[in-house]
Amino acid sequence: MAIGSSQFRRMRLGIIGLGNIGWALGRGLQQTSHQAQTMGCDRNAEKRERFVQTTGIQAHEDWKGVVEFADCVLVCVRHGQVLPFLDQLRNTVTPEKTIVCLAAAVSGTDLRSNIAPSRAPVVRAVTNVNVACRSGLTMILSDPQFAAPEVRSAVIDLFEALGDVIVTESEADLDRWSVLSGCAPAAVMIFLEALCQFGAQIGLDSTVAREVSVQCVGASLKTFLHSNIDLKTFKYSVAAPGGIVEKLLAAPESDQIRTTVDQWFDYILQRIAPRT
Ligand SMILES: NC(=O)c1ccc[n+]([C@@H]2O[C@H](COP(=O)([O-])OP(=O)(O)OC[C@H]3O[C@@H](n4cnc5c(N)ncnc54)[C@H](OP(=O)(O)O)[C@@H]3O)[C@@H](O)[C@H]2O)c1
Repeated sequence: MAIGSSQFRRMRLGIIGLGNIGWALGRGLQQTSHQAQTMGCDRNAEKRERFVQTTGIQAHEDWKGVVEFADCVLVCVRHGQVLPFLDQLRNTVTPEKTIVCLAAAVSGTDLRSNIAPSRAPVVRAVTNVNVACRSGLTMILSDPQFAAPEVRSAVIDLFEALGDVIVTESEADLDRWSVLSGCAPAAVMIFLEALCQFGAQIGLDSTVAREVSVQCVGASLKTFLHSNIDLKTFKYSVAAPGGIVEKLLAAPESDQIRTTVDQWFDYILQRIAPRT
């Protein structure tokens, strides 16, 4: 069955690799009531078990049955595992199936040249774990050499059900976005961890400290998004004049925190070689 944008609801999906991203996709799809049309595969029994328990989606050890079932195969294995997996997949996959590769660091050219003998269309996309609550940000590479527009629009339709989608013709931008959107959840969690610990240090029960911290971080981001003001102004707008938050923002430690965070990102900058 050739798939088109209006066919997402009838599209059968196969998720290969049920780790962080595969699991997050399963969780998001569960909320779109797409469980019966989705199947997962992972060679790791614990990950399969967790996936089945938390998403209600079937999972298998062998990928062949999953590929046979699916119209669209979502490849969610680690980047070093993608090409060896495609080496096997291209001998099995038929041209009416769509392959979507979610690896952050495998180029569209490598994907296409690997899968080309099968004539199956391939779409490169990068997403993040926030698809688990349908608040993902997915970047999709738009390249007619990899997949026809109707195939790409079906893939866009799928990811729009799981959050926001950005389509780009620039693979360099896709790589840059993947670094930023991949780092963002971890960066926020580091700060959240410190906030929870601070709550416990000032005498709150650790469960309460966690609930308050998580709620406040989530709600602060929502308030900022609705505020329509820039980050710096927002930061100072939450501090009552003369109050403890104003003193906190003015303390030299605030600059030190920022310097430390910048150093952390410098560490990442030195280890990536973005496409130009
Ligand atoms: N984590 C993120 O936030 C994030 C963000 C953006 C993009 N991505 C991309 O998403 C991809 C997956 O990342 P991840 O963090 O989800 O990795 P992960 O947690 O390690 O999950 C990958 C899973 O796939 C399994 N697997 C590998 N080859 C397989 C095969 N041939 N058949 C069945 N199962 C197989 C792995 O099993 P083994 O452990 O036994 O190898 C592992 O359980 C990566 O390419 C990454 O670039 C991740």
